[in-house]
Amino acid sequence: MSSPYEQRDNDSPVEVVWHASGVSKADRAKLKGQQARCLWLTGLSGSGKSTLANALEVALAAQGRHTYLLDGDNVRHGLNKDLGMTDEDRTENIRRVGELSKLLVDAGLIVISAFISPFRSDREAARALFEPGEFIEVYVNAPLAACEQRDPKGLYQKAREGLIKDFTGIDSPYEAPEAPEITVDTAADDLDTCVRKVLAAVCN
Ligand code: ADX
Repeated sequence: MSSPYEQRDNDSPVEVVWHASGVSKADRAKLKGQQARCLWLTGLSGSGKSTLANALEVALAAQGRHTYLLDGDNVRHGLNKDLGMTDEDRTENIRRVGELSKLLVDAGLIVISAFISPFRSDREAARALFEPGEFIEVYVNAPLAACEQRDPKGLYQKAREGLIKDFTGIDSPYEAPEAPEITVDTAADDLDTCVRKVLAAVCN
């Protein structure tokens, strides 16, 4: 049975040996009657990633799909609670959640990963962990002004007051995707429309 890390076995320490499993990703997904995938939601804070991610999971579960939702704020309470918001820590955050998403896809799940993931190279590194077609980048696009006006957690205001440093869109960059599989415009379209647009791309 092949290793999901096949392409990278050369990077592994020689003392670490891959143990083959008798049940494959395809077997696990087949038992669930679905194609395992990662829906990767990227966008500014306040763009609506968490709201869309949650609505997507509810809709998929209602269709009998087996899902898991990874959300930036939540993962930073546990697995990644040692990480801050410097460029380096964001890169490590995305590296870890990319690997975690890969494991959950290997488990046969439809994984929804919602992270600002501001750097293109980090998102591309996450994409490279997956087989072609498995990683679906969803750009949750909303103008910075709209996100700042929504300011659901009051963080933009704090960033403007200088109380939070390295805030995405204010004093830390956001590199918009150049060729995402899907773009949703949460300032122009309602939640239902955005959900339907994403589901149309995955429910086949
Ligand atoms: S990422 O940049 O590393 O992908 P992630 O999605 O995990 O970020 O976490 C973003 C969440 O952290 C935001 O939704 C917000 O609630 C919180 N946050 C705290 N500080 C910042 C900051 N400086 N920039 C952006 N978000 C921040």
